Amino acid sequence: MLILAIESSCDETASAIAFVDEKTEKFEIKSSVIASQIDIHALYGGVVPEIASRAHAEALSKITYEALDKAGIELKDVDAIAVSYAPGLIGALLTGVNFAKGLAFANNKPLIPVNHIKGHIAASYIENDIKPPFLALAASGGHTSIINVKSYTDFETIGRTRDDAVGECFDKIARVMGICYPGGAQMDKLAQNGNKDAIKFPSAAVSDDTLDYSFSGLKTAVINYLHNAEQKKENIYKEDVSASLTRTIVESVITKLEKAIDTLGYDTLVVAGGVAANSHLRTGLKIFAEKKNINLAIPSLCYCGDNAAMIAVQGYYEYKIGNIASTDLNAVARP
Ligand code: KG4
Ligand code: ZN
Repeated sequence: MLILAIESSCDETASAIAFVDEKTEKFEIKSSVIASQIDIHALYGGVVPEIASRAHAEALSKITYEALDKAGIELKDVDAIAVSYAPGLIGALLTGVNFAKGLAFANNKPLIPVNHIKGHIAASYIENDIKPPFLALAASGGHTSIINVKSYTDFETIGRTRDDAVGECFDKIARVMGICYPGGAQMDKLAQNGNKDAIKFPSAAVSDDTLDYSFSGLKTAVINYLHNAEQKKENIYKEDVSASLTRTIVESVITKLEKAIDTLGYDTLVVAGGVAANSHLRTGLKIFAEKKNINLAIPSLCYCGDNAAMIAVQGYYEYKIGNIASTDLNAVARP
């Protein structure tokens, strides 16, 4: 089965073609094209929704035909069209949903609605031989959720951030330090040359029985530290701030994941989303998984950030259960 997928929930316009061997359920990503809008939004220090929608509208057709070309196929060869319809920026999602709708109905192809978070988690099926049930952490610029993945399509969110997402925490602190949007990847590099014990910051794991996080308290503590140092004319070592912040984030994330693993008794952990690209988090999780004797699946860097290959993969499982959309498919901003 050949699936064409479209992703436009935030600041990346993406299209991909996945081949699925329905007997083995192995995926082959024939092409995955991503048009990033980062350079445009960097001018404003964050994503401007209106600009994102317009940039998606401009890019969608071009990158979809590029994905078809790269895969060496034509639209008529595609068996189904999957599209990310929620959650995300409403205007951005609508451009992708409407484009996919037009493509599907004009060419008489089934249209598959895919939840973006489920897509991030499905990225882990591309390179790993894992099957639900398992525990998953979706960590990106817009979301931080601990999810009980009961089956390929049945997900229960059992923990979440009560305020900022983890990627947002990195990006907002980076901005105060004068690092260009989105600062997460840059702070990852800075942290490699910093002392992770230099500064003590408060945990983002909420100190109660829930599996919830709160990254806004941590963000404020780091920003206060930076402002205080500035007022006292003290030197700020961006490397030490990045390393200390990253250490706090990694420990906070693992604290609640351990609690969730112990509660559910699963032997597999999936970590996905843009922040799963963080090298320190990947190392910390590897050590944690070895200690707990569980399987750890984290997508390759190219499938951590927003992409359409992950939408195609989740699209396959949605298609299998008959989740086909009609012409009234709408975009939904909330998870
Ligand atoms: O999944 P994603 O591409 O988009 C959303 O769905 O939000 O995630 C983007 C987020 C941004 O906050 C970005 O700073 C963060 O992922 N990010 C990182 C790294 N690479 C991207 N954060 C920490 N370390 C990284 N290496
Ligand atoms: Zn995402």
